[in-house]
Amino acid sequence: MSTITLRRSNEKDSIVDKLQNEPVLDVELKNLDFAYKSRKKTFPVLEDISVRIRGAQLVSILGPNGVGKSTLIHCMNRILDPTAGAVTINGYDVDGISIKDLAKFMGYVPYSSVDNFPLSVTDTVLMGRHPHSKWGTLDDDLRIVHEMLCLIGIEDLADRNFNELSAGQHQKVMLARGLAQEPRIMFLDEPTSNLDIKYQLEITKMLRRLSREKNMMVIMISHDINIAAKYSDNIIMMHDGGIFALGKPADVITSENIKHVYDVDAKVIMDEGRPHIIMIDDDDTNYDDDHEFSVIATKSGETYKGP
Ligand SMILES: Nc1ncnc2c1ncn2[C@@H]1O[C@H](COP(=O)(O)OP(=O)(O)OP(=O)(O)O)[C@@H](O)[C@H]1O
Ligand SMILES: [Mg+2]
Repeated sequence: MSTITLRRSNEKDSIVDKLQNEPVLDVELKNLDFAYKSRKKTFPVLEDISVRIRGAQLVSILGPNGVGKSTLIHCMNRILDPTAGAVTINGYDVDGISIKDLAKFMGYVPYSSVDNFPLSVTDTVLMGRHPHSKWGTLDDDLRIVHEMLCLIGIEDLADRNFNELSAGQHQKVMLARGLAQEPRIMFLDEPTSNLDIKYQLEITKMLRRLSREKNMMVIMISHDINIAAKYSDNIIMMHDGGIFALGKPADVITSENIKHVYDVDAKVIMDEGRPHIIMIDDDDTNYDDDHEFSVIATKSGETYKGP
């Protein structure tokens, strides 16, 4: 039984205006269940999830493939309707907010491979301004688009065709689009999965910084445990369709939890107060025995020996 009292506004479209003025956001999932339904079957995915996330911070959701991480954020941003339970923001049921209004308030950067736009990078990022736009394109919108391209460091891609970019460049454009929306709550599904190590670090660090600067709650799904542990304020670790552990990285990222959730042996070392996992593999097969192998490159006709 739910114990929360839902706040409802008489004017449906004004809830988001009220939430925009709330200095501290308080997102609550109460006894949330979700099952995918096909004609003959139901596939339960999330069961009895109750969690409360309060304040501007970077929260990472970790967990194995198929555990329900993407499904969970889809239930939070109304892409999916929970089978049971409620999602509230400062007591208001998100069900009572129109999708159009919600888009002014919640941003979503989907998993990278799903989007495809026959548009320039500028126009793609400009789509993020759509929930705020009136008629035509305002100079303000273009200024924000340019700011976001600079923030992500891709202003040189502004006139390129989105469909001709690399996977990592796509991901950066989608991030810029999400940020151009200027949401108070931002959901990101594996936002750094295609990025090189420099950008994995820079973008994750930037998300934590923006949570403070823009008073924004950032909820990110990640498979990179070490980067999530290094920068997240809190971590939610999922297992078996539910929440297995949550809290500060040092409390959640433990050898025991990694073993239980991922079935992987790992040792955890602490680096500047943050946990860092190192995989342990006891398989001592030596593949180097009696086996010849090499890779040779040439440069200007000479065998390449490196820089
Ligand atoms: N549209 C759908 N119809 C039926 N089942 C689905 C659908 N989408 C996802 N599922 C199933 O729901 C479960 C959770 O999927 P979800 O995408 O939320 O996992 P995830 O934790 O995000 O995994 P990953 O790390 O691989 O992205 C999986 O078993 C998946 O097969
Ligand atoms: Mg997923």
